[in-house]
Amino acid sequence: MKRELALEFARVTEAAALAAHKWVGRGKKEAADQAGVDAMRTMLNRLAIDGEIVIGEGEIDEAPMLYIGEKVGRAYSKEDEENDGQTVFSEVDIAVDPVEGTRMTAQGQANAITVLAVGKKGSFLKAPDMYMEKLIVGPEAKGKIDLSKPLIDNINAVAKALNKSLSELMIVILDKPRHTQIIKDLQALGIKVYALPDGDVAGSILTCMIDSDVDMLYGIGGAPEGVISAAVIRALGGDMQARLKLRSEVKGISVENDKISNFEKARCEAQGLKIGEILKLEDLASSDEIIFSATGITGGDLLEGVKRKGSIARTQTLVVRGRSKTVRYINSIHNLDFKDERIIHLVK
Ligand code: FBP
Repeated sequence: MKRELALEFARVTEAAALAAHKWVGRGKKEAADQAGVDAMRTMLNRLAIDGEIVIGEGEIDEAPMLYIGEKVGRAYSKEDEENDGQTVFSEVDIAVDPVEGTRMTAQGQANAITVLAVGKKGSFLKAPDMYMEKLIVGPEAKGKIDLSKPLIDNINAVAKALNKSLSELMIVILDKPRHTQIIKDLQALGIKVYALPDGDVAGSILTCMIDSDVDMLYGIGGAPEGVISAAVIRALGGDMQARLKLRSEVKGISVENDKISNFEKARCEAQGLKIGEILKLEDLASSDEIIFSATGITGGDLLEGVKRKGSIARTQTLVVRGRSKTVRYINSIHNLDFKDERIIHLVK
C-alpha cells in the first residue's frame, strides 16, 4: 500500500466526522450514523483503490451502505490514462466504523469518533457483528497477557511488566451492567477504573498512547470494534487477546437473544470461527501493512471533536501507519464552502 494513501484515508474520516457532527446532541442515533456512512462511502469511492468492506455496517440486506462485502473505490478514469498508467489501484480490505459512539453523538457526549483501518487482502478477521471479550495492553506489557488465565493473574503480570503497584494501575472498561461486578472487584483491589459509557475503540487505543494513564482495557464490547482495535493496537506495538461471545452469554437468555445467538453461531460456522476460542492479536489483524485513521466527532480522551464557526470547521485526526509505526495527529481547518460538490451537502 502506498504511504500517500494515509492522507487519503485521513480525508475519509475527516468527512465522516464533519457529517456526523451535524447530528451531535440531536437525539437521533440512526441519522448520525447514516450521515457518517454516506460521507465515508462517498470519500472511499473517490480513491484509487480496489477496496472491499470486510468489517462494516452489517449484512447487505440490513445495511444499505458500507455493508460487509461492498466494493469501494473509483473506476479507472481518463485522468489515469493521461497519467501514463502511473496510477496504482491498491487491492485492499477495509474495516470501518463510521460513527463509533452513535449514542454519544446523539446525546452530545464525549469520545465519539469515526474510524477505519485498511490493509492488504486478508489482513483482518472477518468477525460477525456479535460480542467479543477483549484484553488489551500497550507495548511495555506485550507478551504478558493470556486470556485463558483469570483476570487477576493478567493484572498482576501487567503490573509487574510496568513496574507498578495495583493502586497505580488504570484499567478502562465499558460502563455496562455486565461489568458492574468486575468494576467493583477491581476497585476493591485498589485499581483505578476508567468506566467509559461507550466507545471501546478509543479506550483500546489509550492503552498504547504515551500521554495516556490507561494501562489495560478489559471487557465485552462489539466484535467489529475489536477487529478495528486489533489493527491499530498491532500498529502501535501493543497486545490483545479476545474471545467471541454469543449474545445470550452477554445479555442473558430470552427468545430474542437465543434467536440472535443462533444466527451468530451460523455466521461463525460459515467463517470457520469457534465461539469462545482465544484469538490472538495476529489472528485478529494478521499484517503490519495497515493504515488506521480516526477523527474526533465529539471531543474526548483521544481526539478533539469537530469545532465549527459557520462554514469553517476544524478536525483532529489520528493516523497510524503500521509499517513504520508512525503516529500522526492531523489538525485541519476546512472551508466547507469549497468542498467538492459530491461531498459539500453531506458536511456543510
Ligand atoms: P455504537 O456506536 O455502534 O453504538 O457502538 C458503541 C459501543 O460502545 C462500542 O464501542 C462497543 O464495542 C459496543 O458499543 C458495545 O455494545 P453494547 O452497547 O451493546 O454494550
